[in-house]
Amino acid sequence: MEPFTFRNGELYAEGVAAAAIVEELGTPCYIYSRAMVESQWLAFDQAFGGREHLVCYAVKANSNLAILNVLARLGSGFDIVSGGELERVLRAGGEPSKVIYSGVGKTVREIGRALETGIHAFNVESEAELEQINQVAGGLNKIASVALRVNPDVDINTHPYVATGLKESKFGIPIDMAAGVAADARHLPNIRLVGLACHIGSQLTEMAPFIEALERVLELVDDLNDSGVDLAYLDLGGGLGIGYYDEQPPEPDEFVMALMEKLQTMGTRYRHLQIIIEPGRAIVGNAGALLTQVMYLKHNGSRNFAVIDAAMNDLMRPALYDAWHEIIPFAQHSQQEAYLYDIVGPVCESGDFLGRDRELAIAAGDYLAVLSAGAYGSSMSSNYNTRPRAAEVMVDGDRFHIIRRRETIDDLMSPESLLPESQVVK
Ligand code: LLP
Repeated sequence: MEPFTFRNGELYAEGVAAAAIVEELGTPCYIYSRAMVESQWLAFDQAFGGREHLVCYAVKANSNLAILNVLARLGSGFDIVSGGELERVLRAGGEPSKVIYSGVGKTVREIGRALETGIHAFNVESEAELEQINQVAGGLNKIASVALRVNPDVDINTHPYVATGLKESKFGIPIDMAAGVAADARHLPNIRLVGLACHIGSQLTEMAPFIEALERVLELVDDLNDSGVDLAYLDLGGGLGIGYYDEQPPEPDEFVMALMEKLQTMGTRYRHLQIIIEPGRAIVGNAGALLTQVMYLKHNGSRNFAVIDAAMNDLMRPALYDAWHEIIPFAQHSQQEAYLYDIVGPVCESGDFLGRDRELAIAAGDYLAVLSAGAYGSSMSSNYNTRPRAAEVMVDGDRFHIIRRRETIDDLMSPESLLPESQVVK
């Protein structure tokens, strides 16, 4: 579906004029389409047909409580990477029994809390972590269900910062060491090994690396089977990309069906395995936009700048990964002269740009929408330069709801304190 469209030359999000939202809330402001978030999740879920499965939304992509709640209402599971994300899922009404806990550095406290709430399983990334979980579970008199997150050493075509499946990456257990770790796990009394997991990277636009990873993981399932380990699930991670520019990744249903087809051709011995996936970006990425206002136009000889009121602290992806986001004006028709603009924010860094060399016919005061900003936008935002984080809005048909109010300067400073008055020594 297309959540952002033009009606009579004006930008709309579902049935709401973008102009009406900024009039009420000001800018910068994130907006999300509820219908798109839901339809993306459902597309993943329904493509599994009768196969036992769980779609665990990757909370890190966008952890706003309202987004989590909308997904929890559909029956979504959640992939978390911290105790904070676990509390968000619980507060949003997510079921702990559908939570998968990933990440290389789980603390003792986080492990304990996850065990208390009764999560589905931990995806374990090292032998040391396995022993730690065993110990914490022992102290609580519980058995921890775990999957080994293996690193299948698959090379993928994505930004190096978001590739995770290569041998040299910090993630996962090298696949050739996994059988040894599984054997050791048998001697840990408070561990039950129930699955294998892998996640090879993010913003992948082709099926081939996913299929390759699946083949390698299935070989390991066979090895483990031969040594008497009977697994209950396979977690194939997230990573399905979206169209930012001209990429044409598989749709969620095509992604799931390609995996299911591969599983089927590999034989009937995997039929009993529950399949878990952890998509983040593909669910929320194109459902969100960052709305911003042009404050000043600057023509410096050879370059033209549009200084906007959103910045790298609001959307870090262009600065961090040189990521490309489409930037469009709210109004389709303009009397202004078009220039090639660098779209820059007020932060004191040369890396503070949201787009470069964009042809736009704009004037100071105009509003712009930065598209494909629903994933890793607000969740990676910061207060750098003491900038309050943007407001967030969920559009639902012809209504909209504020799902995060704009931070105030007081919010930002409230955890801080001054030193005590200095004592005057006489
Ligand atoms: N599962 C695990 C274990 C992950 O590490 C990730 C993402 C996901 C699932 C979800 O991946 P997705 O379906 O969203 O691709 N900040 C970067 C992306 C970092 C992804 C980190 N891991 C960006 O803005 O492009």
